[in-house]
Amino acid sequence: MSELEWQESWSVGNPVLDDDHKKLLAIIQMISDYRPESADLTQLFAELEDYTKYHFAREEGLMDGADIPDLAAHLKSHRSFEEWLHSVRYAFTVSQESRSLLLDSVDEYLRKWLINHILKTDMDYKGLI
Ligand SMILES: [Fe+2]
Repeated sequence: MSELEWQESWSVGNPVLDDDHKKLLAIIQMISDYRPESADLTQLFAELEDYTKYHFAREEGLMDGADIPDLAAHLKSHRSFEEWLHSVRYAFTVSQESRSLLLDSVDEYLRKWLINHILKTDMDYKGLI
């Protein structure tokens, strides 16, 4: 799959949150580049889950008190992504076979979700936090 690179047009106007997004993209890129002999997939997903939680907490803290359109829907999309990620991590522990079968679609979904979330949902707070 193509290289996942953050672009200036993806800036949400807050350098700390932009850096978080870059870090999440980097972890997803490592998942895309995953080879069993060179990386530990369980470790990569643990890192993605931890950093996602950390980032969402930061973003939600900054949005709290600001007049963000559709905040409830934004928070809901964070919670459902966390749930999805958690269930994928569980599915990966079931067997090596389920891992291989899932990995391509999981990778594609991660890329689409993050890019779509930054460009559509997160842009709603640009200039407000
Ligand atoms: Fe968000």
